[in-house]
Amino acid sequence: MTLKIGVIGAGAIGEDHTRRCMQVVSGAEIVAITDVNLARAREVADKYAPDAKVPESGEALIALPEVEAIIVTSWGGTHAQYVLEALKHGKYVFCEKPLATEAEDCRKIVETEAALGRRLVQVGFMRPYDSGYRALKKLIDAGEIGEVLMVHAAHRNARVGENYTIQMSVTDTLVHELDVFRWMLADDYVSAQVVFPRRTSKALPHMRDPQIIMLETRKGIRIDVEVFVNCQYGYDIKCAVVGELGEAILPLPAAVEVRKSAKQSCEIMTDWKDRFIAAYDVELQDFVDGVKAGKLNGATSWDGYCASVAADVCVKAQESGRIEPITMMDRPAFYDR
Ligand code: NAI
Repeated sequence: MTLKIGVIGAGAIGEDHTRRCMQVVSGAEIVAITDVNLARAREVADKYAPDAKVPESGEALIALPEVEAIIVTSWGGTHAQYVLEALKHGKYVFCEKPLATEAEDCRKIVETEAALGRRLVQVGFMRPYDSGYRALKKLIDAGEIGEVLMVHAAHRNARVGENYTIQMSVTDTLVHELDVFRWMLADDYVSAQVVFPRRTSKALPHMRDPQIIMLETRKGIRIDVEVFVNCQYGYDIKCAVVGELGEAILPLPAAVEVRKSAKQSCEIMTDWKDRFIAAYDVELQDFVDGVKAGKLNGATSWDGYCASVAADVCVKAQESGRIEPITMMDRPAFYDR
């Protein structure tokens, strides 16, 4: 059986997920694509799914009887309306992160889905599908390094453009760490603090870069994440987990080692799309298989809510410089792990 999917938002990742569904994932087909820019939707359809319809709105796409599942890849601020609409139609929906830009909208989605009593939403946090993070979690869960005490992490981009704001360093960048550490440690955050080291001269004037975000979890694990988005040299994701018995370090993607002119070197990626390309493939295949099996596996609406609440508090901590508490609503029993 081929799962018939509609895509809302034909930008960079909407195009990439359309290509992925048509060319990489098995058992899926894109049957409709839309965008506020309909010409752009038609362009992506022509490129990867020439038979796809181009309905005039996201709502019209969701209502199409042949659309069995929806992928939402429009701008973050528009995600909640489409996810809620999909839930109204009882249709499965894969929503790129963030689930919503307001924690209140995430809460609405959580409550709506819990009231339906059926899990229909998967949030596009792809790091739990990365083979490196999976290996790390497996080792932690097997008790190989004992109880986890600390995590030292870094999220570095070569550079960011004028439209990138300091808040985005949390909501667009750090948010991946906020999600993956909850999953990797099976824990929740209780507080956040942000400190700013010496500012790099390579940042645009409106940016304070780098920064260090310090998180504390319920179990008392301390996590420090360096976010440095003008590091110049590449896209670099680091994670070292320190436990009672040892340290486990996220493996780097395989790269050829070159020995030449009295130097030993290997390439560092510069594009995030390449760094996690395999994870996106596995993630979407899992969504398609999950829909068919009636059981989704990836990040839940609850995970989307938790990431959003934690991100809001980190933004507050950027401004206040203080240790800010992170409090979540009670988790509906529906999402019990
Ligand atoms: P983009 O700006 O390239 O594309 C967004 C598209 O959505 C544009 O074509 C725009 O016209 C369309 N759009 C905006 N409002 C709309 C609406 N109300 N209805 C229909 N279409 C609408 O942005 P990009 O990079 O593709 O990101 C899209 C989403 O995916 C964002 O939420 C972003 O955070 C997320 N994302 C997630 C990544 C991940 O690693 N999981 C990576 C890149 C993006």
